Amino acid sequence: MKTILTGLRPTGNLHLGHYFGAGKNYLKMQDDYDFYLEIADVQALTDNFDNPDKVRKNVYEITKDLLAIGLDPHKVHIFIQSKIPQIAELTVFYSNLVTVSRLQRNPTVKTEIAQKKELFGNNGESITYGFLGYPVSQAADITTFDGELVPVGDDQLPLLEQCREIVRKFNSIYGETLKEPTQVLSTTTRVKGLDGNDKMGKSLGNAIYLVDDEETIRKKIMGALTDTNKIKKDDPANPDVCMVYYYHKLVNKEANTTKVCSECQKGTRGCVQCKKELIEAMNNFLKPIQEQRKYYDEHPEVVDQILKEGTSQALQKAQEQMSKIKKAMKIDY
Ligand code: TRP
Ligand code: SF4
Repeated sequence: MKTILTGLRPTGNLHLGHYFGAGKNYLKMQDDYDFYLEIADVQALTDNFDNPDKVRKNVYEITKDLLAIGLDPHKVHIFIQSKIPQIAELTVFYSNLVTVSRLQRNPTVKTEIAQKKELFGNNGESITYGFLGYPVSQAADITTFDGELVPVGDDQLPLLEQCREIVRKFNSIYGETLKEPTQVLSTTTRVKGLDGNDKMGKSLGNAIYLVDDEETIRKKIMGALTDTNKIKKDDPANPDVCMVYYYHKLVNKEANTTKVCSECQKGTRGCVQCKKELIEAMNNFLKPIQEQRKYYDEHPEVVDQILKEGTSQALQKAQEQMSKIKKAMKIDY
């Protein structure tokens, strides 16, 4: 069985973008691979070091969200990054194998620095050593578990490339020890935001969360972007530029979606009615997830136990891998 490793930063609940872009894939992969799913709390702290409460809370929130969508803790090792000291140790070893300028040129890091002006200054002049180095730590995340396959979105590709470079460098100096990971191409696409933005994201404020209650869903969908050229109820419109239609396609039955499309084009459908139908479809879609989630909300001890077991399985793998690595580096005293 091949090993899969991926990570999630615990900085907020999972939204539809996570579900359709990643979670659904995890569900398919959990049967066929040795699957390590890291709750990357140490990485979350690199840009949330001043907000430890947020990170701690979201470790549990994300874990419950993952269980609610149907990840099976008997199949997937869900574990907490900070509980695996080998990752931190390996990060230190790897830090000799990557130059500062290479990290500064990493496109993902560059984009993130630009997005975090408040934290890192307008020109990134207040960037921390830890944040600049998080690709190194992410390389350690992957290789600590001998991760061969890494399911991530395209935005993470530069980080995976950085990991491969570190692996090659390591192997060329210390001998063939580590595997070069490859990306698992997502079969799903990224989900657009309520405002029509290409990406649904927490920081963009345009997300529908798996935990959103009916009232929240109603408000969000009522405010979603529609075809702005449609003024009156019986104006024909273009569903392809409307986010309401877009989400109908994601969560509603195919027959209903076809109807939405043709009625919208003909001008026999009002937006308010169309939104109401989407609200219902969305709530129906979220209901089973939220029911699962309710069980874990009511049984925090079960969640703790799942994390404990996942972490202890991960630790075992990390220890084995670390002894190989130390031997190769001749620090196996
Ligand atoms: N950087 C990833 C993200 O922001 C999360 C992550 C942490 C990760 N460790 C990882 C992804 C290891 C893949 C492999 O989404
Ligand atoms: Fe969008 Fe529906 Fe209005 Fe058409 S009728 S513009 S699909 S909300």
